[in-house]
Amino acid sequence: MTQRPLNQVLLHPGCRVGPELDQWLSGHGGEGLARACAAPGAIIDAIREAGLRGLGGSGYPTHKKWSFVAQQQGTGDKYLICNGNEDEPGTFKDRLLMAETPHQIIEGALITALACAINRIVFYINPDLGLAIDNMHQAVQQWRGTPPLQTAADALGRPIEMEVVASSGHYIGGEETAAIESVEGNFPFPRGKPPYPAESGVHGCPTLINNMETLANVPHILRNGAAWYRDLGLGDACGTKIYCISGDVLRPGAYELPMGTPLSELLYIYGDGMLVGKKLKAIFTGGPSNTILTTTDLDVPLDFESVAARRSALGTGAMIVVSHGTGIVKRVTEYVNFFAASSCGQCPSCKTGTYYISMLLSKIDTGEGTRADLESLINLCKILPGSGRCHLLDGAVKVLDSSLYHFMSEYEQALN
Ligand SMILES: Cc1cc2nc3c(=O)[nH]c(=O)nc-3n(C[C@H](O)[C@H](O)[C@H](O)COP(=O)(O)O)c2cc1C
Ligand code: SF4
Repeated sequence: MTQRPLNQVLLHPGCRVGPELDQWLSGHGGEGLARACAAPGAIIDAIREAGLRGLGGSGYPTHKKWSFVAQQQGTGDKYLICNGNEDEPGTFKDRLLMAETPHQIIEGALITALACAINRIVFYINPDLGLAIDNMHQAVQQWRGTPPLQTAADALGRPIEMEVVASSGHYIGGEETAAIESVEGNFPFPRGKPPYPAESGVHGCPTLINNMETLANVPHILRNGAAWYRDLGLGDACGTKIYCISGDVLRPGAYELPMGTPLSELLYIYGDGMLVGKKLKAIFTGGPSNTILTTTDLDVPLDFESVAARRSALGTGAMIVVSHGTGIVKRVTEYVNFFAASSCGQCPSCKTGTYYISMLLSKIDTGEGTRADLESLINLCKILPGSGRCHLLDGAVKVLDSSLYHFMSEYEQALN
């Protein structure tokens, strides 16, 4: 297998200038924003044509989300929350972007603000990501009072406020409505919907929430054009993706590759293959809140549609590789324990459901589970999805359901 020439955008050395704004602006930094300021009305069309999608896990088309917020009329505040909570095991791309490339995120946020008539930008960051939050603080400070920020404010027609807000560090704080609660200074309890954040978010104001990687792409699209961005992807996929590969591989890390790169390439070329003596068993795709791919899926292009066609989902692009010798029941038990501990407890189905799944899994994993316990797990996979206020519960069920689908024999063998 040969290595594809890397066409890095977000992790290009020219972007990895840390908090130094002078260095960012002495390269191509600021060019995307200047184009956006010249024609704010054309930004959303450019994002639509580029095919940019939410890279925080959902893959939702970015231009659609922006349009809802742009349509909100009124003279009050509008908020953009740049989501840097990143707390799910196996995902470590946003911390890298925030620590090494804060200015492309800030420039992307300013362009987003222009597109949606937003005047308040909040960089919402997990305080446990030390260098990330420090560098974002410094970088935001460096933009204050600069000509590019003033030009953006002039184009918007009012001042643009930017601040860094530390999240509480809880995993649930990354959920969009929990982030809104957190920004208001409350515990990150997700809110019921409707109203949706686009109508009523922070302090009742229209609010847009985007992932850091999504926003980081924006200045490059404005500078180089939608067609350029589309062409970066393979097949029908657009742009690049920072895939995080971890687990039983020789070279774990975050690799920016064309969206649609085959799983085998990520694993065997960039991840350098399995640890010596280890044989591939499965890949937890998109992190613990997602699904499993197996050895028959090595050819799958890692883009939203292709992975979904394999009864899985790309999610954040995190690939946790496990080898033979790793018990699937044990691993899924660990992941469900994480979700049970992360549940905010507002919804009985989630609080009780994650606890109950975790208890049944532990029983089976320790050889004490019965056929009835396994039947209960199968039934819970049918009745729990969609019963919680947010998707945390769905994530816990998804990984369990996927493991039952692919590795039922392991569950059966573990029964008492
Ligand atoms: C439990 C939970 C945790 C989440 N954590 C994050 C997170 O840390 N960062 C993130 O960008 N999105 C996270 N999300 C997804 C957000 O709710 C939201 O969809 C995302 O920030 C939107 O950005 P995008 O459209 O750019 O992908 C989480 C969702 C759930 C249900
Ligand atoms: S589904 Fe779980 S985490 Fe989400 S709001 Fe309900 S209790 Fe909280």
